[in-house]
Amino acid sequence: MTPATNAARKRPLSVLAFPYPPRVSYRAIFIAVVIGTALVLGAFLINQRRPAVERNQPSAALVAATGKCAECHRRETSAIIDQFERSKHAAKGVTCLDCHHPAEGQPSMEHRGFTIAKSLTAKNCAACHTTEYDQFARSRHAAPAWASVNGAKDMSPEQRALGERHHPGWVDRAPMAIGALEGPSAVESGCNTCHAIGKPNADGSFGTCTNCHSRHAASVALAREPSTCGQCHMGPDHSQLEIYGESKHGALFAAQRATFNLSADPKKLTTADMSVPTCATCHMSGLEGMKVTHDTTERLSYFLFAPISTKRPNGDRGQTEMKEVCLKCHTRPRIDDFYAKAEKVVLATNEKVKGATDVVASLRKEGLLTPAPLDEPIEFTEFDVWHYYGRTAKHGAFMGGADFVQWHGNYELLKLRTELDRNAAELRAAKKEKR
Ligand code: HEC
Ligand code: HEC
Ligand code: HEC
Ligand code: HEC
Ligand code: HEC
Ligand code: HEC
Ligand code: HEC
Ligand code: HEC
Repeated sequence: MTPATNAARKRPLSVLAFPYPPRVSYRAIFIAVVIGTALVLGAFLINQRRPAVERNQPSAALVAATGKCAECHRRETSAIIDQFERSKHAAKGVTCLDCHHPAEGQPSMEHRGFTIAKSLTAKNCAACHTTEYDQFARSRHAAPAWASVNGAKDMSPEQRALGERHHPGWVDRAPMAIGALEGPSAVESGCNTCHAIGKPNADGSFGTCTNCHSRHAASVALAREPSTCGQCHMGPDHSQLEIYGESKHGALFAAQRATFNLSADPKKLTTADMSVPTCATCHMSGLEGMKVTHDTTERLSYFLFAPISTKRPNGDRGQTEMKEVCLKCHTRPRIDDFYAKAEKVVLATNEKVKGATDVVASLRKEGLLTPAPLDEPIEFTEFDVWHYYGRTAKHGAFMGGADFVQWHGNYELLKLRTELDRNAAELRAAKKEKR
């Protein structure tokens, strides 16, 4: 009910019936009062609906803030204004300064009469999106992503502790040897460009939210696009994008995407909006009453990326949650059968990888290899076995990529094993000759 009709209903009849002094002027005064009250009340209600941060700041100055930033930046960097204006943020009255003002612990700078942060992190978004940030911060996208390349040396004790609490052993660890061998420029513009999704920031937070949402569009449609995850999840060591592309899901998505509602409100997402899953649907979305999660680790059951894959500590729960997603669109027997087959691929791949790494381990024991990593050709063959083809076979089995289980996975495993055996025999023969 609007305030105006509410007020009208409560209007006392005796006042309307009063005949003298002249009816018109009383009526006019009364209507003026009612309309005036309604306007004040209406303005109050509209104000209530604005984000709290906005209400708590002097609103004239804030209007001036976005207005002034936008006026000048429309000339200087017009694409940013265009992106911002399409966003839900602009529609809901979030201003430039809501994000750009320095959060606690962030260096600031003076900029055209305003104080803004020198650079922004996930902390600036966390001010209004605590739930999403907390889930993100406990996921492998946070501390473990950075530690897998750089170890824990860049983290504060608090950052290290948070990571270790959720991923024991995966944060306090040595950096992967290959980074040191390739050198800092490769690490900076290669490894860390992807792994900075979990970079420990000086303000105490991890990473950035913009890898998936972009900086000014704050788009959920973008985050639901397979190619957004595919910025990092691609290539022979983690071919998720390619596997998805050849799966039935990927083929259907490509064919039908124009009819899907990729911008659907995450809290109300149904299979009517998207009847085919993308990466986000399976790993993050709150499909039909499930909860959205920014902890991409939650629905997993195996450490598939590891040379030998074992079950995760909360693997059973993870598997139940992922199956719950599948079951929004599929029947139970099909999904149980799919998982059973994929688990067989995991076990078989473990055997094949172990066979290969055992060959190299015994050569090392026999003194035929140096202790240093990746300084002999056979060590690259061993690395390719688990890092490329073992992973590919396992990922292919779980995400519907037959070609990746077979030709990019098992076939290569078979081929590399014969290469390894031949190289091992040659090394042993060469040693005998030397004696
Ligand atoms: C009178 C014009 C003007 C106004 C007003 C203005 N800016 Fe800028 N801003 C610029 C120009 C010009 C640059 C580019 C400087 C350069 O290229 O080195 C810039 C750069 C920036 C940068 C990048 C800084 C960096 O070091 O990378 C940010 C962020 C920014 N502005 C945000 C804002 C925000 C937020 C507001 C409003 C609170 C605002 N600006 C108001 C003109 C303006
Ligand atoms: C939802 C939060 C958010 C809002 C709202 C927002 N920005 Fe930004 N903006 C960012 C983030 C994040 C970055 C990246 C900063 C970084 O990397 O340090 C950025 C970067 C920029 C840059 C530097 C761009 C470049 O490529 O060099 C400019 C200029 C800028 N913003 C202006 C604005 C203006 C003007 C507004 C208002 C019309 C605005 N921003 C609103 C989050 C926001
Ligand atoms: C001042 C508070 C504030 C800040 C800071 C802020 N947001 Fe938001 N954000 C909002 C509001 C309000 C909404 C709209 C919520 C709604 O409609 O339910 C929103 C919505 C969103 C959405 C959902 C959009 C949709 O289409 O449903 C995303 C994604 C998002 N924000 C990302 C970000 C990111 C990333 C940052 C930091 C770069 C950020 N936000 C910073 C207040 C904020
Ligand atoms: C900027 C790069 C980047 C983007 C974009 C990205 N990821 Fe990741 N993702 C990573 C990295 C790096 C890791 C590995 C973390 C580690 O070292 O364990 C990872 C790991 C994961 C994992 C495995 C988590 C675990 O516990 O092992 C899942 C699932 C995942 N990402 C899903 C997604 C989805 C879904 C999207 C898109 C909505 C996405 N990622 C976008 C970089 C990215
Ligand atoms: C194109 C983006 C990208 C680049 C470049 C990249 N990674 Fe990754 N990395 C990923 C993604 C995505 C995963 C997650 C794979 C999965 O879970 O299947 C990952 C996983 C890992 C893992 C296994 C997860 C863990 O926590 O142990 C390690 C270790 C790793 N990367 C180290 C590196 C190093 C070192 C470099 C550079 C020499 C590098 N990465 C370059 C995207 C990248
Ligand atoms: C790996 C990619 C990825 C990263 C990183 C990411 N998001 Fe999201 N976010 C998504 C996806 C995907 C959705 C939509 C889920 C769905 O399909 O309903 C989403 C949805 C949202 C929403 C809307 C939630 C709702 O219930 O309405 C907000 C707000 C949001 N993200 C904020 C953030 C913030 C803040 C961060 C950084 C701490 C962040 N996101 C980091 C992928 C990401
Ligand atoms: C139909 C649902 C579905 C879709 C779509 C999907 N995945 Fe997966 N994904 C899975 C399942 C199931 C697993 C294995 C879960 C387990 O460990 O039990 C998995 C595993 C992964 C892992 C492996 C983590 C590890 O242990 O190494 C990553 C990373 C990942 N997915 C990213 C993606 C990306 C990126 C996309 C899109 C290009 C995608 N997924 C599309 C269901 C899906
Ligand atoms: C949003 C709905 C949706 C979700 C969630 C979903 N799928 Fe599907 N899936 C489909 C659709 C639609 C098809 C195509 C069915 C057809 O051919 O009519 C399909 C096809 C498949 C196929 C290929 C079947 C064939 O015979 O070609 C497999 C396997 C599959 N899904 C497994 C899974 C698994 C495992 C999960 C969960 C990890 C999952 N799906 C989650 C909608 C979904």
